[in-house]
Amino acid sequence: MNKKQKNMKKITKKWSPRFSEPANNKVQRYTASVNFDKRLAIFDIEGSLAHAEMLKKQKIISAADLRLIKKGLNQVRKEIIAQKFKWSIEQEDVHLNIENRLTQIIGISGKKLHTGRSRNDQVATDMRLYLRDVVDNTIDQIKSLQKVTLSLADNHIMTIMPGLTHLQVAQPISFAHHLHAYCEMLERDKLRFQEARKRINVLPLGAAALAGTSYPIDRKFVAKLLKFESVMDNSLDAVSDRDFLIEFNANASLLMTHLSRWSEELIMWSSPFFEYVEISDSFCTGSSIMPQKKNPDVPELVRGKTGRVNGHLVNLLTLMKAQPLAYNKDNQEDKEPTFDVADTISDTLDIFREMVSKLTVFPENMEAAAIKGYSTATDLADYLVKKGMPFREAHGVVAKVVKFAINQKCDLSDFKLKDLQKFSKLILKDVFDSLDLKGSIESRKHIGATGFNSIKKALKKSRIKLSK
Ligand code: ARG
Repeated sequence: MNKKQKNMKKITKKWSPRFSEPANNKVQRYTASVNFDKRLAIFDIEGSLAHAEMLKKQKIISAADLRLIKKGLNQVRKEIIAQKFKWSIEQEDVHLNIENRLTQIIGISGKKLHTGRSRNDQVATDMRLYLRDVVDNTIDQIKSLQKVTLSLADNHIMTIMPGLTHLQVAQPISFAHHLHAYCEMLERDKLRFQEARKRINVLPLGAAALAGTSYPIDRKFVAKLLKFESVMDNSLDAVSDRDFLIEFNANASLLMTHLSRWSEELIMWSSPFFEYVEISDSFCTGSSIMPQKKNPDVPELVRGKTGRVNGHLVNLLTLMKAQPLAYNKDNQEDKEPTFDVADTISDTLDIFREMVSKLTVFPENMEAAAIKGYSTATDLADYLVKKGMPFREAHGVVAKVVKFAINQKCDLSDFKLKDLQKFSKLILKDVFDSLDLKGSIESRKHIGATGFNSIKKALKKSRIKLSK
């Protein structure tokens, strides 16, 4: 019998004595979640251990039962870690697979574990435990990327590049300033995940199916064991809430959006049209037909995978929008998107960090691009304003100067003083300080500006935040 035939094997077992016939084979496959929710296994066991501990404390089960349940669940965990556990589609999901195996190992005590509990509050607990873990890792990974970005910025405070608006040369900026912008985006991402963690870290267990249970349970005790901050205050909400998954996905979408924007820049910067940077060979691939090609696959895929993460967000929002209270089986569909989002952001953050740490920067090319684009035109206008001309008038004068320079195919700083004076008598020798890229940057001294000292202070502030 091959694998497919085995899966097609006729099901003979009924779901429970309440049913008069076994589930249709196709239905069983359609409704089972074990193939994907088995990755919740360690969290499911952790939750069950805490639940059993509480049942014993409340004298709902005996000390002997608890001892056996602990022993049995530990063995199940070992089997799962050693990949010896036999997952069965007939047992539908991770919860029933584990409970069933527990009962095989320890007998009747295993059947007592589910007292005062439902899979509805169980799965909600598992997902929260899982996601709390994911969020903690995500926060660490964001910090690592910030660290690498700050180190690169430290080395490029004096590297000058053209700042762009509308993808046109606007004003000269420090490359460190540009990198710091991404560091700020990541800072907000980190704060968003930290904030979301508070809403993840609330215990649903005890809600049972939807209405709570008649057993004298102690939910706060379970919360303490599982390191949840508090317990959910409404049992209907506890089993049906998936806001925390949507919030996580929304935060992941924003994070990916930031990395996607950065990727777009890396793709452009590494093209022969820019040549600002070179992405290390180990992050690129070649072309099967064009031998000269080196393609920036990693940033392209980061950009591409952003669509995938955003898609999952719409998936989850749509999943929830028409669900009546309380639990509905629809919720089983929350897992695959969530797992995929978690895997995607983890892989992306990891690979992105390494790519940034191995980036080669070509400061001369960046500076040459800044010179080419009349990026100090605003500085010339500001110079005239400081000499007494109203800004709007100065704007017009400089526009004429730029037009002339374009016709002459030269840069503003190439002009002789007497050429410039043809446009305004206010222009004196000191004008050349303003036409210089460095001077332009240096003159922007306030908080948040690109001035070399301002950016040094900003990097320092970011580093202090990171060390907290
Ligand atoms: N596998 C289910 C899920 O992921 C577990 C909860 C099942 N509850 C139920 N009442 N059928 O949502």
